Amino acid sequence: MSRYLFDNSAPQASGRFSALETCYDPVSRRQLELTGLAPGWRCLEVGGGGGSLGDWLGERVGPDGEVTITDIDPRWAEHGPQRPPHVRLLRHDIVTDPLPHDTYDLIHARLVLLHLPERLRVLDRLVTALRPGGRLLLEEFDCGWTPVLAAPDEASAALFERVEAALHSQVEKAGADPLWGRRVLGAMAGAGLTDLTATTYAESWPGGGPGIALHGVNIKQTADRLRADGITDPELTAFQALLQDPTFVVNSYPLISAHGRRPHPEATPR
Ligand SMILES: C[S@@+](CC[C@H](N)C(=O)[O-])C[C@H]1O[C@@H](n2cnc3c(N)ncnc32)[C@H](O)[C@@H]1O
Repeated sequence: MSRYLFDNSAPQASGRFSALETCYDPVSRRQLELTGLAPGWRCLEVGGGGGSLGDWLGERVGPDGEVTITDIDPRWAEHGPQRPPHVRLLRHDIVTDPLPHDTYDLIHARLVLLHLPERLRVLDRLVTALRPGGRLLLEEFDCGWTPVLAAPDEASAALFERVEAALHSQVEKAGADPLWGRRVLGAMAGAGLTDLTATTYAESWPGGGPGIALHGVNIKQTADRLRADGITDPELTAFQALLQDPTFVVNSYPLISAHGRRPHPEATPR
């Protein structure tokens, strides 16, 4: 049973999607292009969030192709542009709801499997849903490397690290794996995919910028849990103020884009 910590019913979800889209959509679009994406492809965008990448895939595959955008709670993607008939949005739980077999040319999921305790089972399901030769692109954070790159003083850096550590502990308690980014390629190999590659992207996030806002919404949405874990209200207030200070700079979450192909049956060793 999934216990997604940052569920989309919270008002912070829209801030999360705009931070992710601003910082990572250009990276994801480049990685999607590198799969060979072409008009006519049949694509699945899993856990599509705000829907931006699914809509972009729809433009790239054109009316001869097909894009299905899924989410366990698609309310934010419903606010998107009027979609053409070849792009559909589905309420769908990737853990439990039916998925067709041998169907997709490309499946993409960004920051979805990281949150799912059943991530290895879901990975197997995604592989089965690909047509032989089809491509899987999973993009996941490695939350274990977000060093403070500049800070007004040592206490500020220590505060950031303490609050982040408390958040990661909550994320783990909910069944997520904050280090999944460094494990995903190995898991894809274990699931039988071939032609595996991984590319990692990170950038600096200064206070007041669009990227660091992700920390702000994540901490706001989990504030009650963090308080229960010993983070105080003055610390939460100071943390939010720090995120607005341009002299405070952190490394973004590194995004690992892992790509692989489902082998053709004749290529599978006996
Ligand atoms: C961190 S957000 C990422 C959204 C989007 N992929 C992006 O990168 O901008 C994770 C998304 O996965 C969705 N999600 C969580 N559990 C899911 C499940 N079991 N099946 C489908 N979607 C799920 C959430 O509702 C949320 O929209």
